[in-house]
Amino acid sequence: MPPMTLEEVRALDAADPLAPFRDRFALPPGVIYLDGNSLGPLPKATAARLREVVDVEWGRDLISSWNTHAWVDASARIGGKLATLVGLEEDEVLVTDSTSVNLFKLIVAAARSRPGRGVLLTELGNFPTDQYLTAGAAQVLGLRARAVPTELLEASLTEDIAVLVLSHVNYRSGHRHDLARLTSLARARGALVVWDLSHSVGAVPLNLREAGVELAVGCGYKYLNGGPGAPAFLCVARACQPLLDNPIPGWFGHARPFDFTDGYQPAPGLTRMLSGTPPILSLLALETGVDLMLEATTPSAAPLFAKSERLCALFAGLVRDRCPELTLVSPIEPARRGSHLSYAHPHAYALVQALSARQIIGDFRAPDLARFGFTPLFLRYEDVWRAAEGVAEVLKTGAWLDPRFQVRARVT
Ligand SMILES: Cc1ncc(COP(=O)(O)O)c(C=O)c1O
Repeated sequence: MPPMTLEEVRALDAADPLAPFRDRFALPPGVIYLDGNSLGPLPKATAARLREVVDVEWGRDLISSWNTHAWVDASARIGGKLATLVGLEEDEVLVTDSTSVNLFKLIVAAARSRPGRGVLLTELGNFPTDQYLTAGAAQVLGLRARAVPTELLEASLTEDIAVLVLSHVNYRSGHRHDLARLTSLARARGALVVWDLSHSVGAVPLNLREAGVELAVGCGYKYLNGGPGAPAFLCVARACQPLLDNPIPGWFGHARPFDFTDGYQPAPGLTRMLSGTPPILSLLALETGVDLMLEATTPSAAPLFAKSERLCALFAGLVRDRCPELTLVSPIEPARRGSHLSYAHPHAYALVQALSARQIIGDFRAPDLARFGFTPLFLRYEDVWRAAEGVAEVLKTGAWLDPRFQVRARVT
């Protein structure tokens, strides 16, 4: 996209079919929020829904709400809604636990279904929790874990690999793997793949059925706007469900939890992957975020992803022309990345802080990346244009040199 003037980007906003969705979020005035890929902002409907849940469902109706307000079905119901976004059937997605816990469950379950294979494989540079859990699962199972550079992934898919653990979109670079190709390659070599879709769902088109994906997990608090620490989701293709046992077999995954029997008997479908009592407040907060995303992507998700590509292209073009100090580490071709762009700079932390002081919120990923997320539901083209202006100005004026921008916070 060629660099544009403010008038030109305003014309894009005026013609944007998704523009009305911005008002569905409680965004603080003046803030340009380029971090919806890390923590999505608060949908106004969520605040109202949570008030209702607290006052009426919990406050007034108390324990009867498990039945009367269908709390007991929430994990499966919200999973069913998410299924549309990832291209699976309703009974192939479940909302539960955190992404980390779901990774553990699926890695262990998948490895146990591949007896005789002794290695769990992942990629160096994969999100840390994915690497730690691959190693942790290997330890629990008495297997070995291996992490290899991206360029060695395919050659490393040898006959001893039970499970391959990959993020579809890399949290730092934004690089997007070819879901279908790697899934089918792994399958041809006898391994199962557990995909982490945390930076993909709501960010890029997903059709897991078409791509042949059998196992996946992902975050609820990023592009799905489910709230801080929102429950995550896990996907298991129908054909695989009876073959996988939940390694944390709690009573909610039992076939008849309210029979209170002594022996464990897994539920027949995906609900066997539940463990304990679900966090209802967080689940119902996530549900309004998912509903909003579904509204924006029905009947077609194409406008959402097209806008995401245009927002990225606008920012990348402006920064390329005005900020030679920044090195783009994300692929520029839309099909090869997610919906965020990362730039290397030796003082990326201070740069992100200086931007934040100007109400332009991105984030820093150690050791040297400034990362900006482009979330088409609430961002305007004008926001992105102004953010690029802000980056250029902070670099030109050296505003980032201010000592208060050098002090590292615990969460970056
Ligand atoms: C790719 C990826 N996986 C997992 C997580 C986090 O998992 P959890 O919600 O368990 O903390 C993140 C968080 O940013 C992530 O980027």
